[in-house]
This record gives sequence, structure tokens and C-alpha cells, in this order.
Amino acid sequence: MANDTLTITDNRTGQAYEIPIEYGTNPLRSAHIRAADLRQIRVSDDDFGLLSYDPAFVNTASSKSEVTWIDGDEGKLNYRGYPIEQLAEHSSFLETAYLLLWGELPTEAELAAWVNEITHHTLLNERLKGFMGGFHYDAHPMGMLVGTVGALSTFYPAAKDIHDPECRTRQIVRLIAKMPTIAALTYRHLRGLEYVMPDNELSYTGNFLSMLFKISELRYEPNPVLENALDILFILHADHGQNCSSSTMRLIGSSDADPFSALAGAAAALYGPLHGGANERVLRMLAEIGSTDNIPAYIERVKKGDFRLMGFGHRVYKNYDPRAAIIKQVAEDVFEVTGRNPLIDIALELEKIALEDEYFVKRRLYPNVDFYSGIIYQAMGLPTEFFTVLFAIPRTAGWLAQWKEMLEDDDQKIWRPRQVYTGTELREYVPLEKR
Ligand code: SDX
Repeated sequence: MANDTLTITDNRTGQAYEIPIEYGTNPLRSAHIRAADLRQIRVSDDDFGLLSYDPAFVNTASSKSEVTWIDGDEGKLNYRGYPIEQLAEHSSFLETAYLLLWGELPTEAELAAWVNEITHHTLLNERLKGFMGGFHYDAHPMGMLVGTVGALSTFYPAAKDIHDPECRTRQIVRLIAKMPTIAALTYRHLRGLEYVMPDNELSYTGNFLSMLFKISELRYEPNPVLENALDILFILHADHGQNCSSSTMRLIGSSDADPFSALAGAAAALYGPLHGGANERVLRMLAEIGSTDNIPAYIERVKKGDFRLMGFGHRVYKNYDPRAAIIKQVAEDVFEVTGRNPLIDIALELEKIALEDEYFVKRRLYPNVDFYSGIIYQAMGLPTEFFTVLFAIPRTAGWLAQWKEMLEDDDQKIWRPRQVYTGTELREYVPLEKR
């Protein structure tokens, strides 16, 4: 009977070690050893023991999680076991946020209470608007969002009591409720427009559209097609396991920092062009390509390494990102209302050519979630620099679900990776006159 162990022979000493192999839900996708079990492998008593070195954590699990399952080879994504395709078709963003946070789809009463809670926490303290007014007139909305979320921590000092479940839930509600309000304020600031108060009669995305686009009408009436399209996009962006920004949320949260400060850090990580900032870069790339005639030359420059094809490739997906497939369908619904965004034709042709090209096929590079989303946002009249803010709003639910799970996991404590030191170990100080 095969044992679930590794037998490691250290050829430096001839010593053999038996290391247990553990598994997650799917044994073929989660077999692992505890890195700490390597420390017993030493050449002498004063040897620290073996470390595992894994820059960028390409093959290291930082956490055990029940929130999101990604099958990168098959291009599958499930939230708490439910396929993203079914949630996009049948659920709402707030219902999906509840599922991510508490692990089960809510009953009708639970959903009604949850939506009511979120709806009645969308307001921001007026002083925070003064804080936002201090940003330069053309401040990047993501820079404003990161700064404002961090500032929000100063309005809720009690949020530091992160080991009290009631307190955690109060901050979770506040953050999910207030992110669209903060996001809309960054947009109105960019446009030089006065801020719009939340409208509690509207849905989560309907209210967001109202806070973005309401001008002088008594009540903003969101277009139901756009309201629904945004809700689906929010579902698709809600969580994605241990991505860069969620890992940042867990890392900052592991020091017992309050969730507002941790989420500001997570949003800062998302801002990077290799992560959530890619949706903004995709639109700039498509505009630069300009026409389908220019695609072959552009692809050649990507293959030469001049730059990356933004919205393509993924650390986990080595197949089509299932979210990109759904977003492509949503785009057609939106274009029915907004008119067709011509950039979609360049994107579709770019995808077609890339997926037939050996460079991309060999590296298993496919369109990711960011490849088509920006085309929709632009068709809805939103500026390119606002696109990553539209990623941060729904990902707030995922960041908080990961943060909550980390705090409830007895295996977890403050994150403090080791290093492999390669510098000079010891030398004497040299006085200035002798250098
Ligand atoms: C998101 O982690 C998540 O889950 C993130 C996310 C989420 O929901 O949270 O899914 C959201 O961040 C999506 C990714 C958005 N970023 C982009 O679209 C930026 C462009 N893509 C990349 O830079 C890249 O694909 C990454 C960062 C997404 C993944 O990079 P990896 O896993 O570190 O892969 P790599 O850089 O080691 O690349 C492997 C090879 C390299 O070529 P070789 O050195 O082997 O010759 O593939 C090449 C890379 O040069 N490559 C690309 C490429 N992406 C990888 N070449 C051209 N264009 C690209 N986009």
C-alpha cells in the first residue's frame, strides 16, 4: 500500500527522511508537504535546516482556503463550489458576496436582511468628501481610492477589534457598501461634478450608476441592461483565490491591522498593470493598434519582447479564462444599448491571431478577465483610468472573504517569510577618510 509520504535522502549525509504528503479537496490539484517539515534536513546540529526557495510563490501555497476553486488547466472557476457561469446567470453581486463571505447561498430572509444592511451603509462621512477634495483635479481614481480607503480607517477606530466577529461583520458591511460611493466620488472629482447622494430605492449597481451619471434629473433611472451587465461583471470580478491583491489583504491582515488599512493595501496591489491595472492598459493598447491591419506588426513586437500583450496570460489559467468568455457575451448586450465599441473588432481579431500563433500557444497564453472588460466600460462612457476602480469595487467582497478566512484559520499567524541571504556576512566599518 503506497504511503502518502515523500522519502527524501540527503546525499550530503546519506540520511533519509519521511515527509508526510497532505491533500486538499481535489487530490490531483492540491498534494503538498508542509515546508516546515524540511527544516529537519540538516548537515549538523548548528545547521538551520532546509528552506524552500520560491520567488513570487510560483509553487507555494500560503493558505488553505474554501472560498474559490480555480482549475487553471481546464479554465474553470467556482465560488464555494458554484460554477461562475451559473452565478453569472442566476445570482446577483450582493448574493454572491454573501456566498463568498459566509460559505452558503442566503435564504430569502437572509438575502433581504443583507441587502438592507448594505443599502443603509452607503453614506460617507462628509469630512471624507473634504479629504477627497484635496486631491489634484486630474488625480488618478485608483490613487484617490487607495488613499480614501486608508483614510476611512480613521473614521472607525473601533474596527481594530478584528477578533470580534460582530466587529468584523460591521466593517465588512461598511466596506462593501461604501466602495461604490467612494468610487463614484473619484469619478465625479475627475469630471469636476458635484457628488451625488446614494439612492436607497435603487439596486447596488443601479445606485452606483446613479452616483456616477445623475446630473439634474430629480431621480436617475438606470438602464436595466447596463445595471444587469455591471452586476454580472461584479460577480465575475468578486474573488480569485490567492492573487496578488488578495495575498496582500491576507498579509497586512495577518499583523492584526484593521480591515480598512489592509484593504487599502490590497487595492494598491490591484492598481499594478500586471494585475488589475491591466484592463486600463488593454484599452490603451487597442487604441494604439488602431486597426486590425496593424495587428500582425504589433504581435511581432510582443514576440520580440518589446512589451506584453495586455489582457493576455495568467499565472494560473493555462486555458481560456472563463470570466473572459462570459464578458465577451455581456459586451454584445451592452452594445445593444450603447452602440458597438469598434475596439471590440480589434480585440476579437487580436485574440484570433494570437491564439493561432506558436509564441502564445507554446506559452499557453489566453485572454484573461481584463481583455474585454474595458471595452464594455468604455462603451458605457467611463474613462480608461476608472477601469481598475471598477475591478476594486467587486473584489472588495473577495478581499474581505479571504481576510475573514485568514483570521478564522488557526494555522495562520503573522506572515513573515524567510530569505536566502546572499550578501556579505560581516565586515568592519570604514571611516570616511579611509574610503
Ligand atoms: C489579473 O492572479 C490572479 O488571479 C489575477 C486576476 C484576478 O482575478 O485577481 O486573474 C486578475 O491580474 C489578470 C492578469 C492581468 N494582467 C495582464 O493581463 C498583464 C499581461 N500579462 C502578464 O504580464 C502575465 O501573463 C501575468 C503577469 C498575468 C502572469 O505572468 P506569470 O505567470 O509570471 O508568467 P511569466 O511572466 O513567467 O510569463 C511566462 C512566459 C514568459 O515568456 P518566456 O520568458 O518564457 O519566454 O510567457 C510570457 C513571458 O514573457 N508572457 C507574455 C505575456 N504573459 C506572459 N508574453 C506576452 N504577453 C503577455 N501578456
